[in-house]
Amino acid sequence: MTVQVNGKLFETFIDSNTVHKRILELGAQINKDYAGLNPLFLGILNGSFIFAADLFRSVTVNAEISFIKLASYKGTTSTGNVITSIGMEESIAGRHVIIVEDIIDTGTTLHAFLPQLQQQNPASLKIASLLSKPEARKYDVHADYLGFEMPDVFVVGYGLDYDGLGRNLPGIYRIVNQ
Ligand code: IMP
Ligand code: MG
Repeated sequence: MTVQVNGKLFETFIDSNTVHKRILELGAQINKDYAGLNPLFLGILNGSFIFAADLFRSVTVNAEISFIKLASYKGTTSTGNVITSIGMEESIAGRHVIIVEDIIDTGTTLHAFLPQLQQQNPASLKIASLLSKPEARKYDVHADYLGFEMPDVFVVGYGLDYDGLGRNLPGIYRIVNQ
């Protein structure tokens, strides 16, 4: 099936049933790994909100969830990019934190942000990502709980957008003729 998003054509890549089945598997794994630990899920907005909601519902152990937005700007650090988080209210010191991302592409965002979280001394810090594009990676970042590995193509749907649109598509769609 194809859909038009913001003037570009996309075709079905991972249908919503397949996505949901995989999320149930990730939830089962998290239930095993975090029994009694009251993990804190930290969803990175905007892209992760649908994945975070479904992943969180698939978890049955006691757990909490919060969301933050990351903003990057050109700074004067050695990497050139500074990432700030907006909406980080609770302390993560001593907490078992699971970052929830929509997709790891170059890895730039998490490479810059993870050290800032580590500084706050969480008890543990893991990453759950719906998608990963290993071929596009510039930094060594990997998801501990990964939905699907995929080639370096642009996708929309299930929270992921193309210029703000397409997030509400129930499955994941890849661009045609990238
Ligand atoms: P990274 O810092 O390069 O790993 O980029 C991560 C962010 O880029 C994701 O959280 C997405 O917001 C965005 N992104 C990367 N690839 C795609 C894609 O194929 N579709 C939509 N957004 C993407
Ligand atoms: Mg994102």
